[in-house]
Amino acid sequence: MPSVPCMMHFSLERNKAKEMDTSVSVDEFFEQVITVKMTPDKKALDIIDQTLLPGTVKRIQLTSREAIWEAIKRLQVRGAPAIGCTAAYGIALLASQYQTGDTEEFVKKLKEDKAYLASSRPTAVNLFWALNRMERTCEQAAAEGMSVPDMKELLTEEAQKIRDEDVAISRNIGEIGFSLLKELKKDGKPVNIETHCNAGTLATAKYGTATAPVYMALEHGWAGSDLHVYCDETRPLLQGARLTAFELQQAGVTTTVQCDNMASILQQNGKVDIIFVGCDRVARNGDAANKIGTSGLAIIAKHYGIPFYVCAPSSTIDIATPTGAEIPIEMRDPDEVTEMWYSERMAPEGVDVFNPAFDVTDHSLITGIITEKGLCKAPFEQAFRELGIE
Ligand code: MRU
Repeated sequence: MPSVPCMMHFSLERNKAKEMDTSVSVDEFFEQVITVKMTPDKKALDIIDQTLLPGTVKRIQLTSREAIWEAIKRLQVRGAPAIGCTAAYGIALLASQYQTGDTEEFVKKLKEDKAYLASSRPTAVNLFWALNRMERTCEQAAAEGMSVPDMKELLTEEAQKIRDEDVAISRNIGEIGFSLLKELKKDGKPVNIETHCNAGTLATAKYGTATAPVYMALEHGWAGSDLHVYCDETRPLLQGARLTAFELQQAGVTTTVQCDNMASILQQNGKVDIIFVGCDRVARNGDAANKIGTSGLAIIAKHYGIPFYVCAPSSTIDIATPTGAEIPIEMRDPDEVTEMWYSERMAPEGVDVFNPAFDVTDHSLITGIITEKGLCKAPFEQAFRELGIE
């Protein structure tokens, strides 16, 4: 896909961040908030610590498998594609540290590290997809008799490929989403989009999935005021308020934050034209797991007749999982609900807390699933097959 020169500029002046320039182009901004990369000497992973956003923009370096595991578990790096990229770079980094010159030993160690990183989070299938791809690359190279130093090099290249492919995937998703936005554009009025959680540039290598149509619109010359994105706050970890609102506001897009329980009044009052959400795993029948609250949003959208699109790289579609009922849902620490955002506890000590990180949106509520290969409509299993997603 041809790269479209970016025309917009925006200001970071109101951000408290110390490390960012005060006025940068969108491409420079993307560079500064890059979710994950290798340091130039390839001795560490370099991630933006998303737990500190939006107040502090800080990059941290990870060198051990424990630190990489922790960063994924604690959501310092999060979002399905970004987790996949981190795992791929993580394997490449860890493999570069192996002291052995023996191929068999090398493959064995890589498999151990793969299993360890795979235990960090259960729902986003991109994690397992990326780890499997790195393992396959290693096994194939070993079978072909490649030397250990060459295998180390190859794994770094493969991780970089996964990252670069993710950028291209987001752009394709964005172009398809943008074609839907163009249909909704009326003279002098912004297109109103609602989104949930952060499926933005911070959740991917670049552009995001649910936000990609917005970034593509900007690249195609739309002004930030031609778009109005309503960001669900996204309790309990506030990815919508902290991350999506941050990146879209920095990009100059008209942005509004509302609490999750305000989605109904928003849609009832005709404020939303279209909904784009990301996803962590799509089952064969089109059921889609995404951040907790997504399925409620889809139910409300169905009631008010608002188109609801799931934006999904094909690596997020898990053909081996028949329906959403088989998608493992991560349960997280009760403190995230009762204490994390408050100066004092907001629920009685000892009370039970229900804190699933994701829910599954039934395929019947989904207008379409936008993949980089094309737009899928129900019946989804057939649509996936037609696009070669198997
Ligand atoms: O728990 P998180 O913050 O990793 O959850 C992220 C989401 O649910 C995103 O919507 C999803 O991973 C898609 S990211 C393009």
